[in-house]
Amino acid sequence: MGLNTEKNTEPFHLQVLNALPGVSYYARTRGPSFVTAWAHRISGLILVGYLLFHLLTLSLLAQPEQFEAKMSILDTPFFALLEFLLAIPLIFHALNGVRLMLYEHFTERDNVFMLHWLGSLGFLYILLLGLFMWMGSQTVSALFFGMSVLAASLLTTGFLFQKIWWTTKDVWWKLQRLTAAFLLIVLPGHMLFMHLNYALGHQAGIIISRMGLPFMQCLYLLTVVSVLYHAVYGLISVIQDYVEKRLLRFGLIIGLLLFTIYFLFLGLRLTFFIA
Ligand code: HEM
Repeated sequence: MGLNTEKNTEPFHLQVLNALPGVSYYARTRGPSFVTAWAHRISGLILVGYLLFHLLTLSLLAQPEQFEAKMSILDTPFFALLEFLLAIPLIFHALNGVRLMLYEHFTERDNVFMLHWLGSLGFLYILLLGLFMWMGSQTVSALFFGMSVLAASLLTTGFLFQKIWWTTKDVWWKLQRLTAAFLLIVLPGHMLFMHLNYALGHQAGIIISRMGLPFMQCLYLLTVVSVLYHAVYGLISVIQDYVEKRLLRFGLIIGLLLFTIYFLFLGLRLTFFIA
């Protein structure tokens, strides 16, 4: 009886998918692309849920005492862990979005290679975020951080813009991809920044003073508009995929648009009228 010395040559991400209970069945029968597409959709929906919660909580900044009372409830190791775990759907969705865009627009077809990068960069980001949260006392100027993030985001968006703007795709679709490119740096950057000093990020006075800087208001304005547009476009695609009855589909889309106008109002009020 010899030892089994045969090396498992399956790419690492396939080994992971094949080992996950509940997922391995679909990975084997429908293929990893099917699982990744579903994971992208589910992570998008988790981010929509968090976005609504985030905007509602931040709206309490209009009454700083109420905001701090709410934050003191959330200031527990359990909620800190939940915030940390949110980085997983965020970085997965962001990097998988990059993979899709590289596939669509830059003829990058080596999915195995791209999934390796997705896993490695995502892991690195989560490690870095965890390290910052654990250290808990880093500081960096909001303006410096905001400017660096905006410059990088505009470069990424501009790069994609020159690639897709003159194609025959419809303009709404192009805007969804361009907002994705903009959010790619802004959102993981925002999350890192807020966790450089976890306790400071929950103090009404600090948040309001940061938001009073005109430059930061421009950055937040672009972020709020991009994230709401991107999320609504995504949700409309989901509705169109699953709701067959025309009237119901129409009603859901109208409801979604009204809901979005309300959250846009919350976001704009937060950006310009609270500081
Ligand atoms: C962080 C940067 C982000 C990038 C790079 C990105 C990228 C993308 C891309 C490329 C798609 C199209 C997928 C497809 O057509 O198959 C997409 C879909 C979607 N995104 Fe994002 N996204 C980001 C952030 C967000 C955020 C913050 C939210 C929610 C607040 C969100 C919600 C959605 C939803 C709901 C969909 C539709 C999913 C589907 O149709 O399967 N995304 N994203």
